[in-house]
Amino acid sequence: MVGAAIFLLGAIPACLGAVLPKNKPDDMHLVGTQKDIIPYLAGAGPYFSYPVNYGIPIEAPDQCEFRQVQLIGRHGERYPTTNSGKKLLKLYNTLRKYPNKFNGSLEFMNDYEFFIRDQNDLQMETTLSNSVNFVNPYTGQADATAHARKFLVYYNELLNAAEQTAVFAASSERVHDTAQYFIEGLGDNYNMTLQTVSEEPSAGANTISAGNSCPAWDEDLYSNITDAYTTKYLEDIAYRLNGENPGLNLSSSDAYNMFAWCAYELNARGYSEICDVFKKEELIHYSYYNDLTSFYQDGPGYPMIKAAGSNLFNASVALLQQSESLPQRAYIAFTHDTDILNYLVTIGLFDDGKMLSANSTPFREQAFHRSWQVPQGARVYTQKYTCGNDSYVRYVVNDAVIPIETCSSGPGFSCPEKEFYAYATERLQGQNFFQACNTSSVSNVTDLTFFWDWEEKHYNATLLKQ
Ligand SMILES: *[C@@H]1O[C@H](CO)[C@@H](O)[C@H](O)[C@H]1NC(C)=O
Ligand SMILES: *[C@@H]1O[C@H](CO)[C@@H](O)[C@H](O)[C@H]1NC(C)=O
Ligand SMILES: *[C@@H]1O[C@H](CO)[C@@H](O)[C@H](O)[C@H]1NC(C)=O
Ligand SMILES: *[C@@H]1O[C@H](CO)[C@@H](O)[C@H](O)[C@H]1NC(C)=O
Ligand SMILES: *[C@@H]1O[C@H](CO)[C@@H](O)[C@H](O)[C@H]1NC(C)=O
Ligand SMILES: *[C@@H]1O[C@H](CO)[C@@H](O)[C@H](O)[C@H]1NC(C)=O
Ligand SMILES: *[C@@H]1O[C@H](CO)[C@@H](O)[C@H](O)[C@H]1NC(C)=O
Ligand SMILES: *[C@@H]1O[C@H](CO)[C@@H](O)[C@H](O)[C@H]1NC(C)=O
Ligand SMILES: *[C@@H]1O[C@H](CO)[C@@H](O)[C@H](O)[C@H]1NC(C)=O
Repeated sequence: MVGAAIFLLGAIPACLGAVLPKNKPDDMHLVGTQKDIIPYLAGAGPYFSYPVNYGIPIEAPDQCEFRQVQLIGRHGERYPTTNSGKKLLKLYNTLRKYPNKFNGSLEFMNDYEFFIRDQNDLQMETTLSNSVNFVNPYTGQADATAHARKFLVYYNELLNAAEQTAVFAASSERVHDTAQYFIEGLGDNYNMTLQTVSEEPSAGANTISAGNSCPAWDEDLYSNITDAYTTKYLEDIAYRLNGENPGLNLSSSDAYNMFAWCAYELNARGYSEICDVFKKEELIHYSYYNDLTSFYQDGPGYPMIKAAGSNLFNASVALLQQSESLPQRAYIAFTHDTDILNYLVTIGLFDDGKMLSANSTPFREQAFHRSWQVPQGARVYTQKYTCGNDSYVRYVVNDAVIPIETCSSGPGFSCPEKEFYAYATERLQGQNFFQACNTSSVSNVTDLTFFWDWEEKHYNATLLKQ
């Protein structure tokens, strides 16, 4: 049986004072040993670099000089959302009530303490102080700090070139915290200011979270396609665990929730025994199911998404065009995974026009991989550099240069500036965020202006725990 006195009545306490790390020292050798499964966790687990790297160096090619960099980043590793946390707690309590000794891959439950120990941690970044143990390598805090140090390797001169550089954060608390940790990671040598941009629907087009200003977006529109994906792998897991533990009656949906448990426990604790419940094939099924649903919910499979992402892409193109006259050279913004996916869809980096299918996994021909594109701490860079008299644009997604498929003739497989603008114009053709999203029903703000007017507006939106 599982002893965990703090889980009386199944409620997670809002703790008074700090919850001290409880891990046994002899578990410490397990921390950080489960890297291999992180790419299969639907982007809920720790950050990892894009798995398909063509080997193109990230720095500006010889004889070239960065003129502008844009970074659109996701918040870092976090605890589950309130909703997801509730489901995990329910599952944990189901297991906790099992009257016998656990056997097989759930044996660890005989001596286990649930990783969510304070309900105030839900929705939030994992940090050095709220981690389950002292040595968790996967905190959102450490990720943002390390990311900032890497940023300096390539772009510190762009920060030096501006009197002050604004970092923009959507107003979700964890997004704001990520931006704050990033700024702290840069150190004291740069003049940074944090601008918190409202992510409420009333922000309309002046947002980094266009999805929230998009009431016409219906996530379930294509559930007729995605619901057809097999659940046999989930039934197999439940059947296996129930078989190892007579009288345990786990369902497929319990099995499904175990994947999220695995991902978030990695973020909070650095390793997770529940991750070892899954066979490799089951991880692949879970991963593909999430790629498939994401493809039709916030990816290229849902035509409206291109319009949703156009709000940010249009602004990004304008920043590139104005690079030589703007007061800052680095534009850094943090937001949510879906907003970054929408943006990538409009750019068209991972859209080969082929639809994903519920009937089979197109192993060799799958361009869209949600978890590769937006893991926790995801980072999409737009680089603009000059070589001689000419300028070029290219993208770096999660540490890998991803050339534009139809435009990579420049140095470092970049797209010559003029061709890039033609490409962008084509991608944006006919896309009208405000109209497609029916944004007028929630806001009358029709333009994204924060990149340009922050000095006069001082964005300081109220933080939201969402
Ligand atoms: C536990 O598992 C072992 C090995 O799989 C098996 O021999 C044993 O009978 C199981 N115990 C119970 C109570 O199922
Ligand atoms: C940072 O920039 C602001 C705005 O331009 C300026 O007022 C302030 O003096 C600068 N601080 C430092 C330390 O350079
Ligand atoms: C747009 O919003 C209005 C007002 O809320 C609503 O009546 C209308 O049905 C919406 N249209 C679409 C396409 O969502
Ligand atoms: C699924 O639903 C969408 C949106 O309603 C519709 O356009 C499409 O034809 C449907 N597809 C199938 C296979 O039923
Ligand atoms: C197991 O769960 C299913 C669905 O939740 C339920 O219908 C069934 O009665 C349960 N069986 C036992 C033995 O508790
Ligand atoms: C695109 O950006 C330009 C330049 O900032 C702006 O004038 C225009 O209104 C934007 N278009 C859309 C559809 O947002
Ligand atoms: C850059 O442009 C200047 C002025 O048009 C010209 O003199 C120079 O040769 C050009 N340099 C290169 C490397 O093309
Ligand atoms: C536009 O928004 C402002 C601020 O929320 C509000 O005061 C105003 O009434 C709105 N105008 C329209 C036409 O909806
Ligand atoms: C934002 O700044 C304005 C002006 O300084 C102030 O009136 C407002 O209360 C601030 N809002 C928040 C949420 O801090």
